[in-house]
Amino acid sequence: MSASGQEGKQSRKPVVIDTDPGLDDALALVLALRSPALDVKAITVVAGNVSLSACTANTLRILEAVGPSSVPPVYKGHARPLGGKVARAGDVHGNDGLGGITPSYPVRELAVAGGHATQAMVELARQHGKALTIVALGPLTNVAKAIERDRSAMSGIGQLVVMGGTDDGQGNITPRAEFNFYSDATAAKAVIRAGLPATLVGLNVTRRTLLYKDRFHQRLAAVQPTRLRSFLGDVSRPYFEFGRKESGSHACVMHDPLAVGVAIDPTLVSTERLPCDVIDTPGLTRGMMLVGRDASSAEVASAMVATKVDADRFVDLFLDVACGA
Ligand code: RIB
Ligand code: CA
Repeated sequence: MSASGQEGKQSRKPVVIDTDPGLDDALALVLALRSPALDVKAITVVAGNVSLSACTANTLRILEAVGPSSVPPVYKGHARPLGGKVARAGDVHGNDGLGGITPSYPVRELAVAGGHATQAMVELARQHGKALTIVALGPLTNVAKAIERDRSAMSGIGQLVVMGGTDDGQGNITPRAEFNFYSDATAAKAVIRAGLPATLVGLNVTRRTLLYKDRFHQRLAAVQPTRLRSFLGDVSRPYFEFGRKESGSHACVMHDPLAVGVAIDPTLVSTERLPCDVIDTPGLTRGMMLVGRDASSAEVASAMVATKVDADRFVDLFLDVACGA
């Protein structure tokens, strides 16, 4: 159900959300499912923060908590990266992927759709073509395998917005690599080299988008006491706590929500078309994103890299949509 509930589907942008929920994925899904600007055609699940089965169950829990007027199908995707060892982020998101709140949100009605996530992604790319935006919020395993299935259809979409990488070499899972690119560096490298119309929303901009607990709670207090309000309070609590431990302030970094924000309003970020690559060899730089500001070599694929963000305008957008304007 969009925040306003007024917009007809025809004026909304068809999107596929690929996700590994994940606390920030949960906030991103709330934003996507309630935004009057987006029509979520499908949610595809990939292993990342936690296992594929846990991410899938979490996606269903989030959908039941948000209760959109039209419930998009949820498809299971890949459980393991294309290359390298499995990496998880239980230290951030908890072993259940949602900060330990899953017992309060048992999956009651929804179930996953039949068929593989990559097939669903390809079919929607064929159906919608340039009108489709895919927003990738986890490791790029599903996207890479969908490109393998049908490169032409995937290359024909309007935009691929990726939460991943960073253009400043300051990683979060290792000193050099961002988690999504590190988790499946082979997939990240393949997706960037495939040359889809990609916009990379990396840590260099997401780190600037902080949701402060006090402000969030002020807005939440004005929301009707619904299941969604309880869920927003419950899912943000462990994420604020993680922020306090990490940075000393009760604020959470809106990594995945910003990628959805960019699908809603591309003007939230400034971008530069830059030659990009990802290191997928084992070692200290596995998953590191390389940006060639001085490289003019034609054979290196390029992408639109988000270099600046209007963080205040984005947080305002998130609060208006998630908590109701
Ligand atoms: O580096 C941040 C990314 O890794 C986010 O997508 C978060 O959910 C984790 O998956
Ligand atoms: Ca994620």
